[in-house]
Amino acid sequence: MGFALARVLVAAGEDVTIAGRSVDRLDVARAELEQAGHGRVHIRRADIGQEADVAALFTGDRQVDHVVVTAADATGVYGPTARLAADAARHVLNTKLLGAWLVGKYAAGTVTESLTFTSGINAYRPNGSNTVMAAANGALAALASGLALEMAPVRVNVISPGWVDTPIWDRLGMDKQAAFTDLAKRLPARRTGVADDVAQAFLAVMRNRFVTAAVLHVDGGHRFI
Ligand SMILES: NC(=O)c1ccc[n+]([C@@H]2O[C@H](COP(=O)([O-])OP(=O)(O)OC[C@H]3O[C@@H](n4cnc5c(N)ncnc54)[C@H](OP(=O)(O)O)[C@@H]3O)[C@@H](O)[C@H]2O)c1
Repeated sequence: MGFALARVLVAAGEDVTIAGRSVDRLDVARAELEQAGHGRVHIRRADIGQEADVAALFTGDRQVDHVVVTAADATGVYGPTARLAADAARHVLNTKLLGAWLVGKYAAGTVTESLTFTSGINAYRPNGSNTVMAAANGALAALASGLALEMAPVRVNVISPGWVDTPIWDRLGMDKQAAFTDLAKRLPARRTGVADDVAQAFLAVMRNRFVTAAVLHVDGGHRFI
């Protein structure tokens, strides 16, 4: 989703910085993005769970218009609570929730227009095997409301995607195709999501200067089935 947003922005000629844990993956992403348009692409290695990494992203006197957080590592966080390792739960809370909070902490004063987090459908449709991820995602709405007050007039929002075909599914060890086909039949939108659906939602909240402390659901109606 982050890559899809970067592609739209670079195609529009914007300067974009992408961050992640692997310089090799960032290099590959940058090379591909540079084919998309004439915007400049910068890469920064950072683990969102590490305070020093997040602080370093925002040091210096450079200002940025918008910050969007999409980082998530869902390794080992799905399954019944009784069987989940506490370290896996701590890891996802540390990255998905506290990582977002760290971005708010260190982006303050550097970001001038908006900060957007990415939560997810499981906050609104817990299913007995995603409880800790649901908790992290649900808490992002409260985090955004609090930061929207603290960082005003910078606007702070959340995009909550439904099921979207991205690489995150490849690591979950399930039959993605069958699950997506089944869900598409039941969703009010009659299809599952693609990364560009979410990229367009990021752009909508980035651009709309009256939207703050909001959660925008981009889920094809998944909350109601
Ligand atoms: N896809 C869906 O169906 C879906 C549904 C609901 C919610 N979401 C949420 O949407 C967001 C984007 O997901 P996606 O589907 O685009 O996933 P993705 O394709 O796996 O992308 C996640 C990105 O996060 C980076 N990342 C992971 N851990 C990180 C860390 N500790 N520090 C910095 N970067 C980190 C990864 O890069 P590196 O591994 O190189 O660091 C990767 O670029 C996530 O928050 C996810 O929970 C997704």
